[in-house]
Amino acid sequence: MCGIIGVLGSSEAAPQILTGLKRLEYRGYDSAGIATISDGTLDRRRAPGKLTNLETALSDSPLKGTGGIGHTRWATHGAPNETNAHPHATHRVAVVHNGIIENYAELRQELEAKGVVFESVTDAEVCPQLITHYLETENCTPVEAFRKAIERMRGAFAFAAIFSGEDDLMICGRKGSPLAIGRGDGEMYLGSDAYSLAPFTNRIIYLEEGDWAVIKREKLKIFDEAGNPVSRPETVSSASQGLVDKDGHRHFMAKEIHEQPEVIAHTISRYIDGTSKTINLPNGAFDFAKLDRLTISACGTAYYAGLVAKYWFERWARLPIEIDVASELRYRDVPWTKDGGALFITQSGETADTLSALREARKNGQQIASVVNVPESSIARESDIVFPMAAGPEIGVASTKAFTCQLAALACIAIAAGRQRGTLSAEEESELVSGLLEIPRLVAEALKQSDKIETIARDIAKATGIFYIGRGVSYPMALEGALKLKEISYLHAEGYASGELKHGPIALIDENLPIAVIAPVDAHFEKTVSNMQEVMARDGKALLISCKDGIARAGEKTWATIETPKSHPLLSPIVYAVPIQLLAYFTASTKGTDVDQPRNLAKSVTVE
Ligand code: AGP
Repeated sequence: MCGIIGVLGSSEAAPQILTGLKRLEYRGYDSAGIATISDGTLDRRRAPGKLTNLETALSDSPLKGTGGIGHTRWATHGAPNETNAHPHATHRVAVVHNGIIENYAELRQELEAKGVVFESVTDAEVCPQLITHYLETENCTPVEAFRKAIERMRGAFAFAAIFSGEDDLMICGRKGSPLAIGRGDGEMYLGSDAYSLAPFTNRIIYLEEGDWAVIKREKLKIFDEAGNPVSRPETVSSASQGLVDKDGHRHFMAKEIHEQPEVIAHTISRYIDGTSKTINLPNGAFDFAKLDRLTISACGTAYYAGLVAKYWFERWARLPIEIDVASELRYRDVPWTKDGGALFITQSGETADTLSALREARKNGQQIASVVNVPESSIARESDIVFPMAAGPEIGVASTKAFTCQLAALACIAIAAGRQRGTLSAEEESELVSGLLEIPRLVAEALKQSDKIETIARDIAKATGIFYIGRGVSYPMALEGALKLKEISYLHAEGYASGELKHGPIALIDENLPIAVIAPVDAHFEKTVSNMQEVMARDGKALLISCKDGIARAGEKTWATIETPKSHPLLSPIVYAVPIQLLAYFTASTKGTDVDQPRNLAKSVTVE
């Protein structure tokens, strides 16, 4: 998703803005740009491709001025090129934008009918053109013009603008997309998140839905959607100043995969009392005993973590679970129940579909809980209770450590729910807690298969596609395995419930299509193995992912095997995530794709 930065400082703004943009790269982008104001004059530089191209443009022709705005673009409207890159500007104003303006076409037509000439094909350029229209034809002040312009625009967005003739003015607004203001000493900043502002300040003010703000170096005025002056709390952000680095790994994804033993241990330590072998949930307004149903919702990998948790909540807490992807849940006519709760799962905490689904659930009287990796995010701030996870910043677009930490947190929550509802005994809790305490060691064990998995991945990289199959808690893992391969190696991959193969997909089986079979030795092992044999009977290439015992029992005549440590059968997803992630990682690096920033993808999807 696009990234926005703004600076009203005392030293040259362009280098500072570039520093901030580097911290927004992880959001995914295809072009970037900066505009500054100096002695009342606006000027800008933009470049397609990597930030290094913009750096080159700036060193060839530096920008002057201690005030400015910057942008990393993830194209929604118009090809990634210099003309469509932000900031978009007229002679009166320069604007950066994150999000989608749904009614941009009609606004553009209206302005073109008035003789306005557009430079780009983006939705975003409507904003500076509209502001200029109000400045020039209705003699508005910059504040009035900005306000009138955002009132006319529909959609989810965040904007920041600087104006010619105004060296000490920045105006910004949000509807849907996140925006934070940073307070310095005689300097002011704004950015899409606290992480991008950390090099400048940790004094952060988050704009709420519909807020807009008039920023000067010594003065800040925030208004709500209705135009009433409001004050928003200033928080001290925990975002680290240092750029997260790769710790010697080739990619952030590889580093994050190898961080899992440590961060999973940190996450479960937030819940587990190791002495009494019990789970303690953080205090807060969420009593599972009173719930008549729990609705779980999320997107992508986070959704698959929720799907695994469905099995756990049903099994340990006997809690009826409704689960759906957020982009569907928010538009469905869900028959919400009176005593229902809703649980949202998200790494970034800014995913627009998940945020909208949360607001829909709240509107329908549900208690709202979330499992979020970014504690200061919009979803965390809008939840009644936030269940912690401790994955730390996740930079690779492909979610890995956040996924396993989500699973670890969800397992703890489901166990506690079972205790609260009296459907899980203290003995069962203790057994599961022992199983959880083993997980960091078993994940470290699973990482040792790295070399073998790299060899297998070299073959998979030549395949036309791949299927993943699994049963029970391994079914969502089959979906996650397919997603990981698709998103970073661009290989067509599908995940199926093993039992579904013979209802159609088995028609695609041939010697060019590997089938990864996720088969921990659990209640579903035998059935999964017989599905694998149906594939092998049709010359399918079966890749068996199981423990030593499982491979001994079913590995013969398979195309390949990956030995995965044996855990508590119901907790196997947290361990089996490792071979799945490594297969995708090595297939992608074999194919030479951009592992950390795959094409067309963004780390946090803040538009619906
Ligand atoms: C996963 O690797 C992807 N990056 C994507 O599916 C992601 O899980 C999804 O966009 C949800 O993001 P969130 O966890 O930040 O809400």
